[in-house]
Amino acid sequence: MCGIVGYIGFRRADQVIISALKRLEYRGYDSWGVAVKHGNSLEIIKRVGAIGDVENYSLAEGNIGIGHTRWATHGKPSEINAHPHTDCDNKIAVVHNGIISNFQSLREELESRGHKFSSETDTEVIAHLIEEEYRGDLKEAVMKAIKRLRGSYAIVVMHAETEELVAVKYKSPLVIGVGDGEWFITSDVPAVLDYTNRVIYLVDGDVAKLWNDGFTIWNNGKEVERKVETVPWSIEDAEKGGYEHFMLKEIHETPRVIEDTLFEYLSEDIKIDVSFSAGISEIVFVACGTSYHASLIGKCLIEKLTGIPVRVEYASEFIYNPPPMSRTLVIAITQSGETADTLEAMRIAKKHGARVVTIVNVLGSTATRIADYVLYTRAGPEISVAATKSFTAQLVVLYLLALKLSKLPGSEIEKLVDELRIMPELVRRVLEYEEEIEQIAEEIADFEGMIYIGRGIGVPIAMEGALKMKEISYIHAEAYPAGELKHGPFALLGRDTPVIALLIPDKTYEIMLNNIKEVKARESLVVAVADEDDAEVEKYVDFVIRVPKTNSVFTAITYSVALQLLAYYTARKRGCEIDKPRNLAKSVTVE
Ligand code: AGP
Repeated sequence: MCGIVGYIGFRRADQVIISALKRLEYRGYDSWGVAVKHGNSLEIIKRVGAIGDVENYSLAEGNIGIGHTRWATHGKPSEINAHPHTDCDNKIAVVHNGIISNFQSLREELESRGHKFSSETDTEVIAHLIEEEYRGDLKEAVMKAIKRLRGSYAIVVMHAETEELVAVKYKSPLVIGVGDGEWFITSDVPAVLDYTNRVIYLVDGDVAKLWNDGFTIWNNGKEVERKVETVPWSIEDAEKGGYEHFMLKEIHETPRVIEDTLFEYLSEDIKIDVSFSAGISEIVFVACGTSYHASLIGKCLIEKLTGIPVRVEYASEFIYNPPPMSRTLVIAITQSGETADTLEAMRIAKKHGARVVTIVNVLGSTATRIADYVLYTRAGPEISVAATKSFTAQLVVLYLLALKLSKLPGSEIEKLVDELRIMPELVRRVLEYEEEIEQIAEEIADFEGMIYIGRGIGVPIAMEGALKMKEISYIHAEAYPAGELKHGPFALLGRDTPVIALLIPDKTYEIMLNNIKEVKARESLVVAVADEDDAEVEKYVDFVIRVPKTNSVFTAITYSVALQLLAYYTARKRGCEIDKPRNLAKSVTVE
C-alpha cells in the first residue's frame, strides 16, 4: 500500500506534490520521490525514509508532476527503488501503487529487447512497456502497455514532452481531485483536501487523461462520465478513511489483507519454498507480544498438521537462556522487523547454528537482513500501536506454512486451502456483528479486571484477546487455559470479574461448556464467543458474540477479529487514547 499523487494546474507542482505525499504517509513511508516537467525534460528527486519537513525540498519550476510515498513490496527501500521509475531515455515517468505479479517475465522480455533496468522493483517494467508502445500519444501507449500487466495497479504516467498526465485504476484505489483550473490524481482523498473537497472515485478499468483545461475518462476504450462527490471529512478523518481511529480502520482492512497475503503465496500450489526445513528435528518460534501469540497458534497448527515438535520462546527470555539448537529451525515472527529482543534472539540462534526464518511485515527491515529466509505478510503499514490486521496476516502465513510442511494427502490440503480462500468473506461477516459487539462492550467497560478462557487453539486466541484489552482499555485482563481456573484464578471470580469464554466447536466443546457453567456459578458476568448457529451456549451466559461457522482450525482468525472489536469498543467507551496507548510504542527497539 503506497501513496501516489499527480498534479496539473497553475501552482508549483513540486510543493503541491510533496505536501500531498506527506498527507499520504500513513500508506507507506520507507522512501519517496517526485518528478516535475521542466521544459522538455523531467526533474526527479528520490529519498529514503519519511519526508519530514517539506520546506527542505524544491525542484525546478513546473506545473505538472507526479509523486510517490512507498511501502516496499518488491525491492528493498532505497533511492534506486523509490518511485518515480522512468524509461531508458528518462522521458516517461511512472508512479504505481499495487503489485505487478508477472513483472519478472516482462522484465526478461524487455531486457532481451535491449531495455536497461536500474531498480529491483516490479513497477519499472511499466515505464519500459509504455516506452515500447509510445508513438507520440501517451494515452494510447499506456492503454496498450497495461494490457500486458497482471496483478493490481493504480498508476500515474507523465512524459517530458507533453502537457498531460495519464492515470489507470485496476484493483488499487485512485481518485481525481477536481479543483478550479487545477486537477489532482491520488490514491486517497487526504492528499487533495488542502485544495479541494470535490473528488471522483475511479472504478476498475478506468483510464483518465488530465491536461491544463480538464480531464477525460475512458473504460473499455469508451469515454465515460463519473460522478463528482463532495468529501465531508476533515483531513485527519480522511487519513483514517472516515473511521474514528486507525485501529478500527485496520480491523476493517483485514479481509483485504488476507486476500493480499493469500495472493502472495497461493497459485495452483502454495508458493512457499520450504527447503529451509530440510533435515530439521524441531522448530522454535521466537517473538514478543502479539507476534508471540501468533507463534503459539503456529505451534498448534504445525504440530497438528505436520507432527514436527515445536517450542515457542519469549524472545526476551531466549536471549539469556538459549536452548540447545542442533537441527533446529528458528522462526522469528515480527510485524515491524525492528523489535530489539526478537532481532537479538535471531542473532543468537544463528550463532548456535540454527537456520533462521522470519515472518515479517516490513520490507527491508533489520529482521530481513539477519534471517536466512524471509516470509512477508502483506498487511501494509499498520499505524495503530495495537497489532490487528498484521496479526491476522501472520496467521495466514502460518496456515500456509503448516499446510506446505504437512504430510496430509493433497486432497485434504486442497480442502483446507479452499476454506482459507473464503476467510476474507467470513471476516466480513464477523464485521457485520460490530454493533452487537459494541453493545456487549458497553456492558463490560466499567470493570477494572477480567479473565479470558479457552482450550486448545482457544488458549493463544484468549491470550491475544486479553492483550488487546489490556493495551488499549487499561483493564487488567488475564487469559488462562480454562482447565487452569480451578488451580487458582477461580479465586478472582465474582460479580467484579467478568469472563470472556471462547467456545470453539471442536473436541473441547463439551468440557468448555462445563467450565462456563462453573464460572457462571460463581456469579461472574460471562461473555461467550461462539459459532453463529450454536443454540446451546446462550442458556448459560449473559452475552454471546457470534462468529460464522468455519473449520475449527481457522477459528483463530474469526474469533480474534471479534475480540479485537470487543477491546476496541470497550476502550472507546472508556474514552481511551486508542491509537497511541500510554507507555507503549509500535516498535520496541530497545531491550
Ligand atoms: C501488539 O499490539 C503490540 N503492539 C506489541 O505487543 C507487539 O506485538 C510487540 O511489540 C511485537 O512487535 P513486532 O511484531 O513488531 O515484533
